Amino acid sequence: MSLKNRSFLKLLDFTPEEIRSLVALSARLKKEKKEGVPHDVLRGKQIALIFEKTSTRTRCSFEVAAHDLGMYTTYLDPAASQIGKKESIADTARVLGRMYDGIEYRGFDQKIVEDLAKYSGVPVWNGLTDEFHPTQMIADMLTIQEHLGRLSDVRFVYMGDARFNMGNSLMVVCSKLGLDFVACTNKKYFPDQKLIDTCQEFAKQSGSQIILTDSVEEGCKDADVIYTDVWVSMGEPEEVWQERIEDLSPYQVNEKAFSYAKDNAIFMHCLPAYHDLETGVGREVFEKFGLSELEVSHAVFEGSRSVVFDEAENRMHSIKAVMYATLYGE
Ligand code: CP
Ligand code: NVA
Repeated sequence: MSLKNRSFLKLLDFTPEEIRSLVALSARLKKEKKEGVPHDVLRGKQIALIFEKTSTRTRCSFEVAAHDLGMYTTYLDPAASQIGKKESIADTARVLGRMYDGIEYRGFDQKIVEDLAKYSGVPVWNGLTDEFHPTQMIADMLTIQEHLGRLSDVRFVYMGDARFNMGNSLMVVCSKLGLDFVACTNKKYFPDQKLIDTCQEFAKQSGSQIILTDSVEEGCKDADVIYTDVWVSMGEPEEVWQERIEDLSPYQVNEKAFSYAKDNAIFMHCLPAYHDLETGVGREVFEKFGLSELEVSHAVFEGSRSVVFDEAENRMHSIKAVMYATLYGE
């Protein structure tokens, strides 16, 4: 199996075997890095990193991974490029495709990253769109594999806004790989029915289940993993905070939610997280609404079940695997 020259835009485009191979390659490259074994097999190649939204983990992961592989990077921030404002995506793609061996894109519509891939002629990697966050999925599966020792017979519970990039992507990866996926949230925040129907088909193939519930007790019962994400995502207007807080506060990941889960259940979050008053947004929300912890309680975030920093580290190893597989092959 070779993923050489493929773009990595969403996991809907990949078979379970291909996704598993990326998780395995991430583990191998992680081990090599820890043992100091060089893997700069892409020496001299050039990649462009386009960020129309902010980032810490994804940007740093692409840069560090690219450098470990021997590649050079150009970072384009929203203010520093003409993309979409003075130059169409199709034109930008054809320019960058002449100069770069691969392009990462983080931004808004999935269509933009799909168009970049269509017109550039080089592998394009989705570093997050409103719809999907596929590189995060490889890191998350690696993290579950490391902590639970398996990717099957896992009850994976997602709490919060399950209609956006994280909920969508996690439902796709779980149903493809055979983890049971539970969206445990206010009914307004269940994933799109069309995507649920697609994932039900994957679940049938992989022998897993998709469960939608607005009951925390039912959803978190016997959970192996409880996962959440911010209630308001990048690009959404500030005005939605009030409604999100009202709708999603019952679905905060806290000790009560974990009381229904298995004893060795783990807590995951793609980060960044609002769990205290150490962030500007966290303080603003506290001043307006009086809440000092939002999607996850500080106790759970800092507690022994939390694997969020292993998960963050794995972003680098898995983004490296995606670039390695699509530019070098396996
Ligand atoms: N999880 C994640 O994508 O983090 P950044 O927004 O910091 O890249
Ligand atoms: N749903 C979040 C994910 C951040 C990694 C956002 O889009 O802002």
